[in-house]
Amino acid sequence: MKESQFLKQVVRSLLAGQLKAAADPHRPRWHLAAPVGLLNDPNGFIEHGGRYHLFYQWNPLGCAHANKGWGHVTSTDLLHWQHELPALLPIEPYEQSGCYSGSAVSDEQGRLTLIYTGNVKYPDGSRTAYQCLARADGEGGFAKLGPVLDLPEGYSGHVRDPKVWHDGRQWLMVLGARTLDNRGEVLLYRGDALDGWMLVGPIAGSGCGGLGEFGYMWECPDLFPLADRHVLISCPQGIDPRGEDYRNLYQCGWLAGRFDGTQFEHGAFHELDRGFEFYAPQTTQDSQGRRLLFGWLGLPEENEMSQPTLEHGWIHQMSCPRELFWQDDWLCQRPVAEIETLKGEPTRFKGRPGELPALTVDSAWLDLALSGEGSLGFGAVAELVWQPGRLVLRRQNWQSGEWEERSCPWLGGKITVLCDRSSLECFVDGGRQTLSTRYFPGENPILSARCDGNDSKICLDHWPLTACLVQ
Ligand code: FRU
Repeated sequence: MKESQFLKQVVRSLLAGQLKAAADPHRPRWHLAAPVGLLNDPNGFIEHGGRYHLFYQWNPLGCAHANKGWGHVTSTDLLHWQHELPALLPIEPYEQSGCYSGSAVSDEQGRLTLIYTGNVKYPDGSRTAYQCLARADGEGGFAKLGPVLDLPEGYSGHVRDPKVWHDGRQWLMVLGARTLDNRGEVLLYRGDALDGWMLVGPIAGSGCGGLGEFGYMWECPDLFPLADRHVLISCPQGIDPRGEDYRNLYQCGWLAGRFDGTQFEHGAFHELDRGFEFYAPQTTQDSQGRRLLFGWLGLPEENEMSQPTLEHGWIHQMSCPRELFWQDDWLCQRPVAEIETLKGEPTRFKGRPGELPALTVDSAWLDLALSGEGSLGFGAVAELVWQPGRLVLRRQNWQSGEWEERSCPWLGGKITVLCDRSSLECFVDGGRQTLSTRYFPGENPILSARCDGNDSKICLDHWPLTACLVQ
């Protein structure tokens, strides 16, 4: 399709669908969601020219995983976003099956430059992929510069999601990959320019660094320094559940270690978020030196296509913006401080679960200190159960109606829960663990509590959060 034809369809889709999507009672009040259609991975997250830029995988024409381009929003505070022109639409032959995920950098001349995967699927089911460049055209859009890297030898057509950075001497890039014998890997490239890349080799993956067999594909890698170490975040596919671990269809986790520009020596793989929906996160370092992260509160190919928002012509949302930090050698996450500015009048409750006043969790920040055993209900379809040493997030599956759970270890510390219409993000023990989920309660869900023992106590601080709409 020609770009002008595609754009006309985007305009029609927006004109016909935007009001309906905005009127959905499940629509987030302060999280990012696409104006219409399907949103998945955060892409190209960067602070550039005094603004935060966030791009996202976007099907502007419907709620299926098709027609993937990049939507683009900008902000000065990570909360109040402004829509920009669609940055990439899948027009050219080398991206005909989608402008897939990637990253953004400021090039040698300070120009905002996107590096993304051009995905091409063939009728026989095979595919290929090109890593491509696009540069800000000075008019709010991006000019495509075409492919700069083909598939490496020995790899399948699943090589994608370039994350690029400059280490002060050279450009470096990590790519998610699947070998011809179905092992998931992260590949490292280096280059003197953004259009000339040399393969260094795999730096992590299935069968590397003591991981043993660890999935057939690793998506969306992100390698970055944090204090005195490096962290590699990536999303392995093809790992079986093991007890309380790896319960989702695809995983998202982190490895910490030492990166010397060529090799990455790392420790064990840990899940980054232990809830139901969290995938394909991307980080950037901002001018305050913070390592910030957005994740997709979704997961491909599970029961996404029965989410009730489909009736309103949109699907999925981002996580809240989070900041990464170390505590006791463990990678932790906290909501960025900016979110506190959305807090309204506080309510404090201290007492037994049965005495809890009726507080709305439609859009709220909760700080919780819990003792004994009990559970907190979020409307009728999700609950957070606390037990000695363990927190369990339960929800009623919107497709099957059955209750299902995800859990994490709990040291008994503070829990923060961010609620926004159809999402919950729990930061456990000050962010050592997170549990994120979508859920679809009735309108204006109320917090309720149940105690499972005689000595259960709740200390709760509740703030409503003000809506901040995308303009
Ligand atoms: C992860 C992912 C990426 C790919 C993109 C396509 O969710 O599968 O690997 O680039 O989504 O939308």
